[in-house]
Amino acid sequence: MSNLKVVAITGASSGMGKATAELFAAKNWVVYGGARHLENIPTAANIHPVQLDVTDSESNHHFIQTVLAEQHHIDVLINDAGYGENGPVEDISMEKAHKQFDTNFFGAAELAKLVLPTMRQQGFGRIVNVSSIGGDIYSPLAAYYHASKAALQQWSDTLDLEVRQFGIRSVIVQPGGTQSAWGATAMANVRQNLKSDSAYAKFADLLGNALDSGSRGMTATSGDLAQVIYAAATDPTPKRRYFNSMSDHLTVIVARAFPNVFRATLLRSLKRLGKRA
Ligand SMILES: NC(=O)c1ccc[n+]([C@@H]2O[C@H](COP(=O)([O-])OP(=O)(O)OC[C@H]3O[C@@H](n4cnc5c(N)ncnc54)[C@H](OP(=O)(O)O)[C@@H]3O)[C@@H](O)[C@H]2O)c1
Repeated sequence: MSNLKVVAITGASSGMGKATAELFAAKNWVVYGGARHLENIPTAANIHPVQLDVTDSESNHHFIQTVLAEQHHIDVLINDAGYGENGPVEDISMEKAHKQFDTNFFGAAELAKLVLPTMRQQGFGRIVNVSSIGGDIYSPLAAYYHASKAALQQWSDTLDLEVRQFGIRSVIVQPGGTQSAWGATAMANVRQNLKSDSAYAKFADLLGNALDSGSRGMTATSGDLAQVIYAAATDPTPKRRYFNSMSDHLTVIVARAFPNVFRATLLRSLKRLGKRA
């Protein structure tokens, strides 16, 4: 047990979760990093890697029990683990749709339930949920991803109202496109989820190529997002939402305030894409 601040981070083996684990460790926190690929969690004296599959209830219990048995307190839980089970709604199996929600939503919800009793007894705690600007905006071939992130946001806002009376806050970070393994996983899933005789094969190709060139221009790094997540975890007066850039924030504002403008813009881009085919 130590008197240092303690953070549990899911998704600590790659991308922004890994960068966040490194940042908290550099700031002298005691870090518990969870992921399925234990070997990819960064090594440092104050980083404790723990085998974790957030879709497995036993694994979630083991992760939080390890933290509490060794440290007896927890300051922050960061729900970062997530991926895109992308593909057309018609093709994607319900099993995969459930897996998307089990990872991006129910995993986070169960971990929060497991830390709340301790945070309530302490009289403080912070739960940082990594959503996406895709919790408010949407694009084709990612229906279950957008739905899972939108669910996470509504859930976090509701939880926050219930627990702030105990000194606990639940907040959301909404990254836009960020350099990590996320895009390659999502594209691989589109291919895997397309049926062999899919009516969406050509559409998926067109969209895949457009996303591919879009992602090459992506400037935000996982390190940038780690800074945003750190701010969300330590801000003395936490906000409901945290963004990495003004353009990410503006995109969400436009999509929420002017949904028809957002949709018309999206439809125009899809039409342009179709003409290029
Ligand atoms: N990159 C972007 O453009 C972007 C934009 C908006 C939002 N986000 C969100 O940001 C978060 C982090 O993504 P990233 O960009 O850093 O992607 P990434 O590099 O692919 O990392 C994803 C992390 O999630 C973990 N994970 C996935 N399934 C898991 C499971 N069942 N149990 C435990 N861990 C699991 C992976 O670890 P293992 O495979 O080792 O388990 C990995 O550490 C995600 O929630 C993602 O949806 C990303």
